[in-house]
Amino acid sequence: MDARTNELAIVAITLLATVVLLYAKGTRRAPLPPGPRGIPFFGNMFQFNVMRPNPQYLKWAQKYGPVFSVKLGGQRIVVLNSSEAADELFVTRSKLYSSHESPHVGFDLVSDQQRMVFMPYGREWKISRKNVHGLLGPGPSKQMRKMQELESRVMLHDLLCHGETSITEDFVEGPHGKVPERHWFSIIRRYTTSLMMTLVYGRRIERIVDNPELHKVYDVMANITHVCQPGSYLVDALPFLRWLPDMLAPWRAEGRKMHEWEMAFWGKLFSDSRTALLNGAGFNGFVQSYLRARAEAGLEDLPGKGATEDAAGWMRDKLVTYTAVSIIEAGSDTTSTAVFSFVLLMLSNPDALQRAKEEMDLVVGSSRMPEWEDEDRLPWLTACIKETLRRAPPFPLGIPHKADEDDVYNGYLIPKGSTVVGNIWAIHMDPVRYPDPSAFKPERFYNPDGKLNWASGPDTHNRDHYIFGWGRRFCSGKYVAEASLFIVLSRLIWGFELHAASDPQTGKARLPGVNEEDTFTDGLVSAPKIYPVGFKPRSEKHAEMITASYKDVQNDWQSMGLAGDER
Ligand code: HEM
Repeated sequence: MDARTNELAIVAITLLATVVLLYAKGTRRAPLPPGPRGIPFFGNMFQFNVMRPNPQYLKWAQKYGPVFSVKLGGQRIVVLNSSEAADELFVTRSKLYSSHESPHVGFDLVSDQQRMVFMPYGREWKISRKNVHGLLGPGPSKQMRKMQELESRVMLHDLLCHGETSITEDFVEGPHGKVPERHWFSIIRRYTTSLMMTLVYGRRIERIVDNPELHKVYDVMANITHVCQPGSYLVDALPFLRWLPDMLAPWRAEGRKMHEWEMAFWGKLFSDSRTALLNGAGFNGFVQSYLRARAEAGLEDLPGKGATEDAAGWMRDKLVTYTAVSIIEAGSDTTSTAVFSFVLLMLSNPDALQRAKEEMDLVVGSSRMPEWEDEDRLPWLTACIKETLRRAPPFPLGIPHKADEDDVYNGYLIPKGSTVVGNIWAIHMDPVRYPDPSAFKPERFYNPDGKLNWASGPDTHNRDHYIFGWGRRFCSGKYVAEASLFIVLSRLIWGFELHAASDPQTGKARLPGVNEEDTFTDGLVSAPKIYPVGFKPRSEKHAEMITASYKDVQNDWQSMGLAGDER
């Protein structure tokens, strides 16, 4: 054999060995989790409503068990349907499963890869999350309670003024969940958004009607939700399309334009915060406090995105901006969704509502409003809140995680790059864990003795519900959310007789059915669509107290250097 033949033989043997090794490795690979058979190229895309997958996912969970898999175009989706499976992967193996799915248009283009909620698990996310934790952790979140207490008094006043407006006037929900200004939903949304804006930028939302800033916040939030919904952009399901040239990829220019549009708004809020800091403004939000600390470290100007490479890892301007945005977006509509579901479920279950009022009268009475200290003494109310969160989780499928490596669970392969969904809906609908799961039964969580067990405790196995997700990506705002739900809902029950609109023909209450899909919106967050409710003060004394406390709050705003309410 000459040298050339030798070379060819070596190449051939190497290739053969590689093929044999790959084949052997392939056959050794564990099988994929079971799931419905799909069709080439599209996978299971046409077998379920991608905008509202949870009803079909529940059926498949009942058929295939704790883990199944489907394909959406080129994307493998692994769905975890038991708390044990979600716990094992998201908590015990959190090193592999702590990335969030990052939609190409919504994250790479519109967010310039800076929106924390969609970040993969890596250094930038860790830096952003650490700063958020410094603001929302168990200790710091207690400082928010004063704002929650004051803002909830404004909410009571607004509901008092609202009375029956949403019953007597005809309101129509706009595209992408746009809520009419005078509807009671807007009053609750003002509370949650104002709280987040104050937390982050040190500025309140002092009015609902004719407030362009508030509309812009909602427009931006609605836009990113819409952009990130599966099905909005084919390129999210078929990643190879990312490599197309600009002329064949119109979403690229569109995404970048949306980024500029967002930044014109959020960037201005950021620079206003910087100006306020220079002028020594009164109340501090997260952005001002961060910029102050950064300036003290000698880094007043730090343009660009990402963080400094040194151990301190200071966030540059764009990462600060988007960390703030992430808090506002993650904390506003989620909390208000839970309030809308609570009112709907309580009105649909008058016995539970009646019992909550009786408990309130006994514990709080009519000469003062509920306060933080009442929490442990209102176990029925707390049970009603928890049952609402179980029955109507704001994110029925959580926020999708991603597998950063190949992994095997229960003998099944979870390939690297798979989207991994914690199916909160199926876990909450498990009839063994929650008998008669469709029914609203606060007694499941009623515990009149002892400390109440909210979802934020360290025991991940025995949580009452899973609405805040799992592991290292567990909701950063859970303490703030739980406190808001307690103060808002306890005061709502304390102050008002709630009543639904009645059918003019039969005189019976007219409410959207909680078991009907059409009652809730499609998408990642499943919120009740607008429905009318009347708010009647429980007595003249209650009404007077609400009005007086609203007037008092105006003095608080003034002494805190915050804008007073305009009505
Ligand atoms: C009832 C209200 C709320 C619900 C149902 C909720 C639910 C969730 C869920 C399911 C996640 C993802 C968890 C996972 O990946 O496993 C999450 C993440 C997050 N939440 Fe909440 N949340 C609520 C309120 C809030 C509030 C009030 C704030 C802020 C004050 C907040 C801030 C965040 C942030 C910043 C993240 C992103 C964490 C990360 O990417 O690492 N949330 N939330």
